[in-house]
Amino acid sequence: MRSNKPTYLGAVISVSGSSINIELTPKIKSGLIIIEGKAHKIGQVGSFIRIPQGYNDLFGIISETSESSVSEKNLVGEKRIVKVELVGESIGIDFERGISQFPSISDEAHLVTDKDLLKIYGKRENGQITIGRLSSSDSIQVSIDLDALVNKHSAILGSTGSGKSTSVASLLRSIVTDHKMDNIQLPSSRIVLFDIHGEYSAALSDVSNVYSISPKNGENKFIIPYWCVSPESLIEFLCGNNDSLKNKFIDYIVEEKVAYIQRNNTLGITPEQVTLYTPVPFRIKYIWYKLYFDDSVTWEEKEQETPAYSDQRGDYRTLTAPKFRPPAPGSTPPWSGGKGVWKKHLDLMKSRLLDNQFSFLLEPDEWHPNNENQIEKDIPALIQSWIGEDKPITIIDLSGMPSSRLDLLLGSILDVLFESAVWGRNLSFGMKQFPLLLVMEEAHRYLSKTNNGLAKEMVRRIAKEGRKFGVGSMLVSQRPSEIDETILSQCGTLFTLRINNSTDRSQVKSAMADGLASMMDSLPILKTGEAIVTGEAAKLPMRFKFRLPQEGQFPDSHDPKVSEMWSKTHRENSYESLINAWRQQQPLKDE
Ligand SMILES: Nc1ncnc2c1ncn2[C@@H]1O[C@H](COP(=O)(O)OP(=O)(O)OP(=O)(O)O)[C@@H](O)[C@H]1O
Ligand SMILES: [Mg+2]
Repeated sequence: MRSNKPTYLGAVISVSGSSINIELTPKIKSGLIIIEGKAHKIGQVGSFIRIPQGYNDLFGIISETSESSVSEKNLVGEKRIVKVELVGESIGIDFERGISQFPSISDEAHLVTDKDLLKIYGKRENGQITIGRLSSSDSIQVSIDLDALVNKHSAILGSTGSGKSTSVASLLRSIVTDHKMDNIQLPSSRIVLFDIHGEYSAALSDVSNVYSISPKNGENKFIIPYWCVSPESLIEFLCGNNDSLKNKFIDYIVEEKVAYIQRNNTLGITPEQVTLYTPVPFRIKYIWYKLYFDDSVTWEEKEQETPAYSDQRGDYRTLTAPKFRPPAPGSTPPWSGGKGVWKKHLDLMKSRLLDNQFSFLLEPDEWHPNNENQIEKDIPALIQSWIGEDKPITIIDLSGMPSSRLDLLLGSILDVLFESAVWGRNLSFGMKQFPLLLVMEEAHRYLSKTNNGLAKEMVRRIAKEGRKFGVGSMLVSQRPSEIDETILSQCGTLFTLRINNSTDRSQVKSAMADGLASMMDSLPILKTGEAIVTGEAAKLPMRFKFRLPQEGQFPDSHDPKVSEMWSKTHRENSYESLINAWRQQQPLKDE
């Protein structure tokens, strides 16, 4: 018998796994039902359906609608079928993802009203973060589960200008502040945001500390000492590729690290335990000098005991190379020694060591070992500054970074943080106890399929093992199709904003459960700041709008106003300051 309830839509006609077909009742042919004064559109792709099962309700999402003509027996007419993906059920008043029973043929299907939606979304449990409102119903707040969001990783994807950065700013603010969006509610949160374009300090200044390679007013200088960086990547960055040089470089690093341990024997490790990867300082200029010596030395004796210096013995502190008399022909001194094949590489290393652009890495202030091979500050102070300060978010502004070096830098920071998480896993303040969320903007730039750099290696590792050590990642990208698939597939929660490009869309679809892929067909028509969230942190796949940040809390990423600015009266400009900014590699402002 058919229900007379106003929400009645039709009956189940087939069930196949979690996909079911429902035949809509002819009564609702108009496509609209009015319930409690509100008009509801029927059979819209992406909208919810409820299937009562005694005390419980099953919930599903419409993924397809179709109409077919029928002519059975004496009945001629149209049949409207909707295909529905079952996504969860409510048991009593609790809503849960997943279903414990399937519907049967002829079960009733009902429209989901705001009241039902409140059942799904209304209860604000512990650990739920309100991030916006449903697109279909402004009165319903959307929340996600913070534990699942951080532990199972996430990605925010969308074409350029779809509102990713604004949404990330809004999401992070929703996480760390209360409803009023200004009081901090999670004071011990540890969020590190890698800001590739320098746009977030404007949006999150009150809840974050900003570290920058080229600090502006009130910002701290970002430093990562070269001796914390993966040695292989560092050598490649400094000298390019040369196997014999690399091997010798590695020997010297170990030698220098052992010397450091012998000098500073309070670290609790013995010289025998030191490896290339032990995170202790070494004197990099001294290594440059020794390599230069090896490459160019000549000897007074055949036994190679006294170097045949010419006028200049050189000085590692000022990067002055030693000079030797050229080898003599035949059996007379000076005898030849070095092969002279590393010069090009060592000159490159010298120019890197002198380049101001890289001082945050190669001249790391208090973290730079002095001539006595001692440092004023050690890694604990570094990590404290990144994750242990009073504000819940740390922004690392990498906007002055040459693109080619981004990988090394980001990879090294991730390396330092992840190693501390791994080795500090049993400590009461380690990341296993107080987890860390890493937000990575412009992920396609260093996580592409073809790139095999340090950053990608680290993100892969974090994606696979991060959960065990309390490190979660959130990737932000405008080109999901360019991101390595294994990394993207590890993202448990996907926030997908507008995506115009079909290759990117199919990439996102393929990362999603089959039945929900059809929901992604609406991706090109989403509004700016509107997204579909699917996966671990969301109770249900939802189309929703992120909370709009308040005035003054937007990232510094607004669109250029083409028509407005182009219509202004032409005036002469001096381009001096523009070129100064370029030369100084500093985005200067008007005076
Ligand atoms: N919810 C929103 N409502 C209205 N305007 C918005 C919203 N979100 C973002 N915008 C505006 O849209 C523009 C682009 O936003 P945003 O910089 O966040 O995009 P994006 O996806 O990060 O772009 P890109 O990929 O280039 O970094 C900005 O001018 C921003 O102010
Ligand atoms: Mg952006």
